[in-house]
Amino acid sequence: MVLTRAALLRPGAKPLLGLLCLLPLAWLVFAAATDRLGANPAEALERALGLWTLRFLCLALAVTPLRVLSATPQLARFRRMVGLFVAFYALLHLLAYAGFDRGFDVPAMLHDIAQRPFIFVGTLAFVLLLLLAATSLQAAIRWLGAARWRALHRSVYAVALLSLLHFFWMRAGKHNFAEVAVYAGVIALLLGWRLWQVARR
Ligand code: HEM
Repeated sequence: MVLTRAALLRPGAKPLLGLLCLLPLAWLVFAAATDRLGANPAEALERALGLWTLRFLCLALAVTPLRVLSATPQLARFRRMVGLFVAFYALLHLLAYAGFDRGFDVPAMLHDIAQRPFIFVGTLAFVLLLLLAATSLQAAIRWLGAARWRALHRSVYAVALLSLLHFFWMRAGKHNFAEVAVYAGVIALLLGWRLWQVARR
């Protein structure tokens, strides 16, 4: 265990995590290039990128509980990187939607945002994510002050709830909720742990 904790502090640990976080994208590029994405590759790619955004979001929310429960403070140095990967996959998901579904036609996308509630909610989550990514540097903490910065970054839970609603609404049309329920369970656990910590204090 001591060995593992020391390994987490090695200079190579962050680049290694970065490479691991790029694996889903590498797989999707490989699958697209070798025709493994099924009958509708554009839809499969867009959906897979949405799911990976949600998975990285769950991972980002899990860093602090894991750090506290396993008494491994070294894990804190990876939180920002995982958070930035959430924004990265969300941007790719948005670009896939913009390119494949709307041919980068901005008025058509704005119409979608106004007319389709699940797109509106996803866009809201994405804008919040961008705000969090833009203020993730040390300089932003100094500029905002620690208390305001912490309050702003608590909105990552709002991002999680909006993402879940986006997913739920999208699947509601197909009456297919099994996968949504799994992510709802994971996010409820992570949010519940957080609320329990606040209540204990
Ligand atoms: C934090 C932000 C977001 C997350 C976590 C997210 C996540 C997801 C997930 C999990 C799915 C369902 C995938 C599946 O059924 O397998 C999905 C679908 C979809 N998302 Fe997002 N999304 C986000 C933002 C956005 C934004 C900003 C847009 C567009 C403006 C968008 C457009 C779509 C569309 C069009 C689909 C349905 C694709 C289809 O029917 O094939 N999403 N998203």
